[in-house]
Amino acid sequence: MRIIVHKAKCQGHARCSAQAPDVFKLDDEGYILPGDIEVAEGEQLLASRGARSCPERALELDPT
Ligand code: F3S
Repeated sequence: MRIIVHKAKCQGHARCSAQAPDVFKLDDEGYILPGDIEVAEGEQLLASRGARSCPERALELDPT
């Protein structure tokens, strides 16, 4: 599973990293780091929760 990061939509809510801090890394100002995220097998549940928790819809799940 992959998460497509729409960096320009991120407003720094940090809900993603609250759900899955190992998956969603934030910069010093609390914004998601750029670049799509390859999610490891064991982290998929937390990662999808984190992605869905973003109120800006900046994190798009790519199930392939
Ligand atoms: Fe940004 Fe959404 Fe996370 S606004 S910090 S991607 S919860």
